[in-house]
Amino acid sequence: MKIGILSRGETLYSTRRLIEAAWSRGHEPIRIDTLSIGVDFGMSAAGDGRVRLVNVQTAVSHQRYLPKSRHINYMPHIDGMIPRIGSSITYYGVAVVRMLQARGVVTTATADGIAQSRDKSQSLQLMARAGLPVPRTVLATTPQAALAAMQAIGKPPIVVKLIEGTQGQGVFLVPNVATVTAVLAKLRSVSKPALIQEYIAESKGQDTRILVVGDRCVAAMRRSSSNGDFRSNLHLGGTAVTAQLTPEIKQLAIAATKAHGLGVAGVDILDSKRGALLLEINSSPGLEGIEATTGVDVADAIIQYLEKRIKEKLAK
Ligand SMILES: Nc1ncnc2c1ncn2[C@@H]1O[C@H](COP(=O)(O)OP(=O)(O)O)[C@@H](O)[C@H]1O
Ligand SMILES: [Mg+2]
Repeated sequence: MKIGILSRGETLYSTRRLIEAAWSRGHEPIRIDTLSIGVDFGMSAAGDGRVRLVNVQTAVSHQRYLPKSRHINYMPHIDGMIPRIGSSITYYGVAVVRMLQARGVVTTATADGIAQSRDKSQSLQLMARAGLPVPRTVLATTPQAALAAMQAIGKPPIVVKLIEGTQGQGVFLVPNVATVTAVLAKLRSVSKPALIQEYIAESKGQDTRILVVGDRCVAAMRRSSSNGDFRSNLHLGGTAVTAQLTPEIKQLAIAATKAHGLGVAGVDILDSKRGALLLEINSSPGLEGIEATTGVDVADAIIQYLEKRIKEKLAK
């Protein structure tokens, strides 16, 4: 099968691993630079309202061993795709994935799934509506709204988060009400709304990252922050060990992934006095930390899952 890996760089760890895993399962991996694909829309001449795609051009590196690559200037046929969309190109990446989905390409992450999980506010709303447990959170921008939010949520310290953020950047622990309003005023001046969220102090800088692939939790790690930070992100120097999951936590992670319309996701869960809380869902989860920590071949699991989905589609 021809498997497209939408990724900006062929030397990125996760991209490289997915390419290797696809080759070793006998497929043809094609790394496609997401930004090189022109998203071109045109109505079909038949006037049937279907979108016809014309003049899609891309540079493709087609390789058996890195760093050999071959560049072609057309969009190749692919049976399935694994979108690895960086947070700096969400808008464009979602448009590309949507276009390829419209062409019938099977995907590990739908365009809606990527968009919904990137926006922390939409994502929390989606999970809350699905009846899944999430931290108490309010979207607010004015000082009045923030005060009202804090009355509903509880006393500071409180967490303030940008709607779109990754690797712990854009997540702040704010000690008092005055600082919350000052932070919101600063964010408003740069047109960035923020989430005000209850601080789960009892999680003590630890959380669990679970890699969901289809309806399985294939790997999980418990992450701990370093230097007393409240954020456990590995990019901030956090450390990790393999985590054992209860059946309830597994179900929660799978339900959150499904609620977003994702086939593959990295799910972050915090332990609280009220039980496990879903914190966020990553549609392009990094594989390096979780594979190194758990020894699980996550890339292979992702390729197997995509393979199965493509076979199901072909059987229809
Ligand atoms: N409400 C909270 N209470 C306690 N810790 C939190 C809370 N929100 C985030 N954290 C910590 O900060 C880290 C980063 O937050 P997260 O929402 O996952 O943002 P990012 O997308 O930047 O990773 C989490 O992994 C967790 O360790
Ligand atoms: Mg996170």
